[in-house]
Amino acid sequence: MSIRTAVLPVAGFGSRVLPMTKSIPKELLPVVDRPALQYVVDEALQAGVEHIVFVTGRNKGAIEDYFDMAYELEASLAGKESKAEILKQVQATRLPAGSASFVRQQEPLGLGHAIWCARDIVGNEPFAVLLPDVIIKNETSCLAQMVQAYDKVGGNIIAVDPVPEERVSSYGVITPVKRDGRLIEMSGMVEKPPREKAPSNLAITGRYILQGEIFELLADQGKGAGGEIQLTDSMARLMEIQKFYAYEFEGAPYDCGSKAGYFQAVLAHALDHPEIGAQAKDMVRAALA
Ligand code: G1P
Repeated sequence: MSIRTAVLPVAGFGSRVLPMTKSIPKELLPVVDRPALQYVVDEALQAGVEHIVFVTGRNKGAIEDYFDMAYELEASLAGKESKAEILKQVQATRLPAGSASFVRQQEPLGLGHAIWCARDIVGNEPFAVLLPDVIIKNETSCLAQMVQAYDKVGGNIIAVDPVPEERVSSYGVITPVKRDGRLIEMSGMVEKPPREKAPSNLAITGRYILQGEIFELLADQGKGAGGEIQLTDSMARLMEIQKFYAYEFEGAPYDCGSKAGYFQAVLAHALDHPEIGAQAKDMVRAALA
């Protein structure tokens, strides 16, 4: 069955980039000329997703507005010939009618709980999860690569990326067993292990294709690392009854939930931008000279 729905958890406070995120959802911070979240929504749409479920929280209303029609703004731009191009760009940010849902996670109980909040909208079918903190830059997007793999092998697939050993304790980490190209068979996964107990340096990187059965496991999932209901813990249980693969994707991931990662995302996208790329390169050279 194809992947029609994607769940994007956007309820987090963005505490690692405060005070910037005191009154702006971290997902809407600009990466050159678009909010970080737009890159992740585009990734989902390019991979064939037709419906996006945003798991939101209080103070996140701006996200709903961003993907809606901005009637007054569009009417005002439409009146000016010189604004035709920008009007097109504004209109392109609208999600088609009926293709976005919003559900609230009322309490910050963890990523597993956030995903579980989407259960009634997703129903019992395979779906994607994209964590908007992570922007992944590549010509064929990370989720599109995973969907291609899923079409061949089915089951559940999570994106992984090798990270330096001193950083493994910030991630979910897998135990790899066998590799076939980029696809990896695993025997386990653990959320935020201490460095000396990490089974590898392959970190779970914010993209998932999961079967609907995950919701039954999330429903009674106890608290795990950090006292939170962890998606990784339910996936480890699902792995005992269903096929589960890791996929080492092609592309550069930027963690926009951290100050350095956010800056790196802005820099990489500015240097590569069709309109300001050349200027950005000159600016970086001048700053380093
Ligand atoms: C979450 C997941 C973790 C994953 C990480 C990727 O952790 O729980 O398994 O490695 O995202 O960014 P968080 O960063 O939300 O604590």
